[in-house]
Amino acid sequence: MKAPKKVFVCSECDSQFPRWSGQCPSCRAWNTLNEETYRAPAKQSMASVRPESKEKAQTFGNMEDSEASRIVTGIGELDRVLGGGLVPGSAVLLAGEPGIGKSTLLMQLCGKADDNYTVLYVSGEESKNQLKLRAQRLGVAEADVLVLTETDLDSVINEYDRISPDVVIVDSVQTMVSASVDSFAGSPTQVRECSSQLILRAKADGCAIVLVGHVTKDGNIAGPKTLEHMVDAVLNFEGDRSQSHRIVRAIKNRYGSTNEIGVFEMTDCGLEEVDNPSAMLLAGRPKGVSGSCAVCVMEGTRPLIAEIQALVTPTAYASPKRMADGIDFNRMCLLLAVLEKRLGFKFSQCDVYLNVIGGLRIDEPAADAAIAMALISSLKDIPVPAELIVAGEIGLSGEVRAISSAEQRAKEAERIGFSRIALPKRSVQKKAPRLQDSQVVPVTGIYDLAAILAAANKENNG
Ligand code: TYD
Ligand code: MG
Repeated sequence: MKAPKKVFVCSECDSQFPRWSGQCPSCRAWNTLNEETYRAPAKQSMASVRPESKEKAQTFGNMEDSEASRIVTGIGELDRVLGGGLVPGSAVLLAGEPGIGKSTLLMQLCGKADDNYTVLYVSGEESKNQLKLRAQRLGVAEADVLVLTETDLDSVINEYDRISPDVVIVDSVQTMVSASVDSFAGSPTQVRECSSQLILRAKADGCAIVLVGHVTKDGNIAGPKTLEHMVDAVLNFEGDRSQSHRIVRAIKNRYGSTNEIGVFEMTDCGLEEVDNPSAMLLAGRPKGVSGSCAVCVMEGTRPLIAEIQALVTPTAYASPKRMADGIDFNRMCLLLAVLEKRLGFKFSQCDVYLNVIGGLRIDEPAADAAIAMALISSLKDIPVPAELIVAGEIGLSGEVRAISSAEQRAKEAERIGFSRIALPKRSVQKKAPRLQDSQVVPVTGIYDLAAILAAANKENNG
């Protein structure tokens, strides 16, 4: 056998190079080349006969119907994100920052799971004692869960074969080590090898596998990019560690809709489901203060009301400061430019800070109108009326464009107690939301938003 060779593998695109360099010559990512050992696969002789294929191609009509019966985890918000529960034979990657609550959530899943299912919890991070203490704290110590503290992949697979569970949880995939790879735990090759072996093994038996993945400093899932392609669903654990609520978001799901979120609150006895996330996100909303505007965004199939806060102050620097938390920075710059050009507001002389309350990330263009409203409100120091909620996408000419699910959003706003709902005129014309006693305000452009604020100001002063 040849001596192992050193190669440098890019963790972004998986390209291999004989030498290290700061930038990957293939995908141009910086600082992604890691040294690994490469063993060439044994050469097959040309004379070897190709083995007969096990699978034959067939039409849909000839395939067996298998309405996958899902394993309901018993944690409603998690089931929602998964699309109704874990699918047997599927692989789920749960990624998140350290200490955000991944192990806690999965330990609770072990406790809640139906007694008919065997759950194996493999931990490579904590000792038996630590796990037991956590289980007692979460009140799941009595549950029938099999716990294995092991990092060696072969031992894990041996134990898996002996038990043949219905669900296996691997916490975390970065701690697993395969003896067949000469590389340290957590390296891209090691992560790829361990995950693929575990996933193959579990899929063959129809066992659902949940892998815990660490994230890097900049929030990406550590290890090779291929890891995300190997699994059927990727769930991201988000939230501010200094605050108590946590959001689990599906960023890929072959068995359900993506962008679905589950909302939890971290308490003394573990993660608790939040039934009414809109109310939680709006709790503590200041009254009569400028710069705050409520918005209704769609998270998957569920409308969610969040609060956007803006702070606009005269700048003391040559180039004004801009900061956006929970909103795309470039989107904020674009909206500022539109407001400046179309309404003549002098944002270029001001520092602008923008924040979404509750660690929520809003990517939906339907939040544009609320962002603009918060910005104008702070600049002019006029509070947005407390009973008003705004939704709409803003175009470059300052027009407010139609949005999807206008009725659903309006209904959620009404349920939470908003009595005036500003929506794009086109969304209202197509299908007016049927509301009980809220007023729908149709808006066509950003000047309408400014006019609503001006009217509110007049009312306050007069
Ligand atoms: P953990 O699940 O260990 O995080 P991860 O596996 O994602 O690294 O969560 C640890 C944090 O959660 C820790 O800061 C303590 C906190 N916590 C609670 O607040 N309440 C609880 O009941 C538990 C078990 C943990
Ligand atoms: Mg953990």
